[in-house]
Amino acid sequence: MDDRKINLSTLRTQFPALNQQDEMGRPYVYFDGPGGTQVPQVVIDAMVDYFKQANANCGGPFITSRRNDEMIVQARVAMADFLNAGSEREIIFGANMTTLTFGFSRAIGRMLQPGDEIIVTHLDHDANIAPWLALEEKGIIVKWADFKVQDCRLDLDHLSSLLSNKTKLVALGYASNAVGTINPIKKIAAMAHAVGAWVWVDAVHFAPHGAIDVQDIDCDFLVCSAYKFFGPHVGVVWGRQDLLERFVAYKVRPSNPNPPHKFETGTLNHEGLAGVAATVDYLAEVGRKYGHQSASIDNVIMHKYEGRRKELKQAMETFAAYERPLFTYMLTELKNLSGINTYGIVNPEEFNARCPTLAFTRKGYTPEAIATELGNRGIFVWHGNYYALAVTERLGVESSGGMVRVGLAHYNTKEEVDRFLEALDAQ
Ligand SMILES: Cc1ncc(COP(=O)(O)O)c(C=O)c1O
Repeated sequence: MDDRKINLSTLRTQFPALNQQDEMGRPYVYFDGPGGTQVPQVVIDAMVDYFKQANANCGGPFITSRRNDEMIVQARVAMADFLNAGSEREIIFGANMTTLTFGFSRAIGRMLQPGDEIIVTHLDHDANIAPWLALEEKGIIVKWADFKVQDCRLDLDHLSSLLSNKTKLVALGYASNAVGTINPIKKIAAMAHAVGAWVWVDAVHFAPHGAIDVQDIDCDFLVCSAYKFFGPHVGVVWGRQDLLERFVAYKVRPSNPNPPHKFETGTLNHEGLAGVAATVDYLAEVGRKYGHQSASIDNVIMHKYEGRRKELKQAMETFAAYERPLFTYMLTELKNLSGINTYGIVNPEEFNARCPTLAFTRKGYTPEAIATELGNRGIFVWHGNYYALAVTERLGVESSGGMVRVGLAHYNTKEEVDRFLEALDAQ
C-alpha cells in the first residue's frame, strides 16, 4: 500500500486551533510543532473537567481529592503505556523537561566523585547539556561527542573514543530538535552500558513522531514533554526502578520518600496531568482507527504489544508513515528554490533516520526575515537556534542568525506545504 494514501484529515477537525485564520481568511499553518504542538479538543475537555470535578490537592479524605489522586495514577499508567515502561511507578511528572533534567542532574551528581566523566553531544538541545555542565563545579569532567557536519549524524567513532570506565553517564537526544536526526539510541545505550555508564535520553523531539519503548532501547532514563506531543505543558521522566530507589532526591522532608513521588517537588500541574492522560487516549484512538492503514507496521514486532500499548505503537507508526512522504515532498521542492541550503540527512532512502523537521538557510535572507515574512502570511515557523546552541555553533550559523526550522506534524497537509513553498517562491 502507498503510505501517501493514509488520510488523517478527519483528525484535523479535532484540533480547534487549526480552524483559526488570518484577516484574509487564510487558515494558519502550524509548522512550529517542534516548539510545541496543537492540542485536540478531548485534551482541552479533560483539563476543563478536572477543574469542574476533581480540583483538589493529594491525599485528602474527601471525594475531590480522591478523584484527583486516581486521575494522577491514571496519568502515570498512560505515560507508562506511551513509553512501554515496566510500571507506572517509574513515571515522574514535573514542570518541563529542562526543570526535571536539572533536578536529576543534581540527584545523579550526588552519586558521582570528582574525576568521574559525563558525555554530552553537540547534537543536543541545551536542556540536555547545561544540567550536566552544572556538575563541573563538583569536579565532574564533561566530554563532548561530535556530529558529522555533512549529514548531522552523531560521530559514533568519536563517541566511542570518549567512553571509558570513568564514564558514569551518557546524555543524548533521541532526535535533534534542530536538524531532525534520529540517533541510534539502542546501539549507543549498549556502548555506554559496556563501560558501566548510565544513559539519559532526551526524547522531547522524537516523541510526536515515533513509538518509544524504553525496555527495548534499554536506556536508564528517558525524558519528554507532553506539549510536544499534542498535550499540555507537563514534563515526564521515566527512570529504571532500581535507580530511582537508589538516588537521593532533593525534596521537602514531609513529602513521600518513595519514587516516583520523591522526585516530584511540590504540587504538580494536576489539570495538566488530566490532559496528559487524555493525550495518550487521543493517540490510542488514532492507533485503533488508522493503525491498519500503515504499510510500515511490522506485525511480528506488533505481537510484543497488547491493548493500549499496541494502539499507541500503531498510532506512532501511522504518523511516521504519513509524515515521511510529506516531508520528502517538502524537502525535494524546497531544494528547487534558489539559494536554499538544508542541513541534515537529505537522502529519502535514509529518512527513517530523521524526523520531519527541516532546518535551512537561504542566501540573501536572514532566518529571522524568512520566518517573519512567513508569519505575516499565517505560516508559523521558528528561526534561530531553538536552544540547540551547540548545533548552530558547530554548523557555523549561530552568528548569522541560525536557521529557519520547519516542523511537520500529523495534522499538517500537502496544501499547507504548497502554501509554504509558494510563499518562499514569492520572496
Ligand atoms: C529536544 C528538546 N529537548 C529539550 C527541550 C526542552 O523541553 P522543555 O521545554 O520541556 O523544558 C526541547 C524544547 O524545545 C527540545 O526540543
